[in-house]
Amino acid sequence: MLKEIENRRSIRNYKEDNIDKKVILDIINAGIKAPSAKNNQPWRFVIANNDIKDKISDKMVENYGPNKTAEVIKTVPYLILVYNVNNEYFNHLSIGAAIENILLEAESMGFGTLWIGYIKKIDDYVKELVNVDYELVSAIAIGVKNENPLARPRLTLDEVLINED
Ligand SMILES: Cc1cc2nc3c(=O)[nH]c(=O)nc-3n(C[C@H](O)[C@H](O)[C@H](O)COP(=O)(O)O)c2cc1C
Repeated sequence: MLKEIENRRSIRNYKEDNIDKKVILDIINAGIKAPSAKNNQPWRFVIANNDIKDKISDKMVENYGPNKTAEVIKTVPYLILVYNVNNEYFNHLSIGAAIENILLEAESMGFGTLWIGYIKKIDDYVKELVNVDYELVSAIAIGVKNENPLARPRLTLDEVLINED
């Protein structure tokens, strides 16, 4: 198995260290190599600035109380907002593939990531902050790891292989 697949974890604790913007662009560049239905490449990205990151984090706390995801958003150096450009049927699958590429590329460089789906819960608020009219699908935190969590449990191959022969 690819070591990036084996070693990647959701990281919810980051050092204050920054990362060069150029490195983040390289990581997003791995995202856009993902396959997409009809090669329609429905993904778009916004690299949130600190002001937007803070406001998103504060809104999550305001709506849902203190939580780890909001804390990550506040402390991580980069939050990438991931958008879907139209409502073609397979877009979310394609965008998921792009996000996974980004997580694995960041892992290969030694950085930590968190895939943040909960940002959807405040997508109306994010729309007020970020002048982008597309559908917000997810966000990705990227930063320098400050924890090395054990692998989270997975179903076994036996449990997920449901064919009978
Ligand atoms: C679509 C999706 C949305 C997720 N949203 C969040 C989130 O909002 N906050 C969070 O802390 N983790 C989030 N995660 C991370 C999962 O909780 C994590 O991948 C899972 O628990 C397995 O842990 P691992 O990534 O370390 O293997 C999300 C993962 C996916 C695939």
